[in-house]
Amino acid sequence: MKNIVILFSGEGSNLLNIIETLHLKELQVAAAITNRPNAGGIAKAKAHQVPVEIIDHTNFNSRESFDEKLLQTIESYAPDLVVMAGFMRILTPIVTDNINAINVHPSLLPLFKGGKAIEKSFHSSELKGGISVHWVSSELDGGEVITQDSFVKAEDESLESFTQKIRNLEHKLLPEAIIQILKER
Ligand code: GAR
Repeated sequence: MKNIVILFSGEGSNLLNIIETLHLKELQVAAAITNRPNAGGIAKAKAHQVPVEIIDHTNFNSRESFDEKLLQTIESYAPDLVVMAGFMRILTPIVTDNINAINVHPSLLPLFKGGKAIEKSFHSSELKGGISVHWVSSELDGGEVITQDSFVKAEDESLESFTQKIRNLEHKLLPEAIIQILKER
């Protein structure tokens, strides 16, 4: 069975979705790695006996030293693919040049790169919201797009309903992309 490592920073709804839909069925989630000791996803992974590694970025005095530890930890699991699911760190080429990774981003890239993409997309004049799954490169949210999906904003759309639609698309598209990529490897 192929191995993946998931990186996350927050609630971990994508992490949980991947574990529930794919873990020990289509692939093995070898580890879930977070940079935040209080991330909600930690308990979700542990509840499914997925090993969790916490690498608190505040304990490192440079971006490079954090990235070296992150790379070393990822490589210790020898994953076939690294999946970034709500991982909120800008990475240097120390990591991005040395791993095969995909990322899910809550906008129709190249629109709304970087942080607060959901809010920016919601408050914009764009008629649609959407999500992207893309290869990770050294350029933030700039790697080649693998797949995207979108929806038309409702007239009475609230930020909450917009966010829920984004999550629903992510929970469908990200596992599909992972399976497809692992099949091709
Ligand atoms: C997701 O919407 C993901 O696209 C976004 O963080 C959220 C994490 O939710 N990622 C980014 O904005 C990366 N730039 P989750 O923790 O519930 O999976």
